[in-house]
Amino acid sequence: MGTECLLSLNYYMETLADLYLIAGVPGVGKTMIGSLVAKMMRTRFIDLPDFVKSERLYTAYDKSSKSYIVDVRTLSAALGSVIEEEIRPPIVATHIAFKPRGCRVLKVVVLRKNPLRLLATLRSRGYPAQKVAANVAAELMDEQYVEFTHKFDGSRVAQLDVTHLGRYEAAKKAVKLLSSESSGDTVDWVSLLERGSKLNKLLLFLSKYS
Ligand SMILES: Nc1ncnc2c1ncn2[C@@H]1O[C@H](COP(=O)(O)OP(=O)(O)OP(=O)(O)O)[C@@H](O)[C@H]1O
Ligand SMILES: [Mg+2]
Repeated sequence: MGTECLLSLNYYMETLADLYLIAGVPGVGKTMIGSLVAKMMRTRFIDLPDFVKSERLYTAYDKSSKSYIVDVRTLSAALGSVIEEEIRPPIVATHIAFKPRGCRVLKVVVLRKNPLRLLATLRSRGYPAQKVAANVAAELMDEQYVEFTHKFDGSRVAQLDVTHLGRYEAAKKAVKLLSSESSGDTVDWVSLLERGSKLNKLLLFLSKYS
């Protein structure tokens, strides 16, 4: 590689815009906790669903699942340009594992919530049973955590179990995780529910709607 190439590569690397991600399945508390984290870190909070709506980045709306359909490449480009303008790394709350274009994800905190508690949250939102079941199943099977560790360097992804935390306590813990190398909590819902003899009932509900 010539000197010019090396110089331009260095320039590119130095100009990457930084950000933090708060991830997790719907209903886990990304908006509530992420916005508090941003306040504590004195930086901007970008909630993905709001951003998609305000920038009209959706391609369709699926009535049956009450969800917007998003083109991830368009979203990545649009969010990347917004993040480039920020002086401090913003906090982005997302349930989609993606990297904003031209940006560097410093750390991801995946929020986790006991599937039974999540089930109650999503039901109280009036979501269709199928959407409730899909998200509870995803939480039970660590889907988001696995997806984010595949998308990003695993050492940059931490988990935070918020089941028994108030929002301030959860936000404070998330701030600590974002600025450390810790991988956070170990989560194993299957074993936990099995020990409490609650797994079979949950699996029965999930099998009805999947
Ligand atoms: N630590 C907490 N303590 C008590 N209630 C909480 C906590 N975190 C979240 N909640 C409640 O859980 C629900 C879901 O929170 P929130 O809307 O922030 O989730 P979300 O992950 O942003 O969901 P979505 O992906 O659909 O936007 C809300 O009703 C909120 O009041
Ligand atoms: Mg939200």
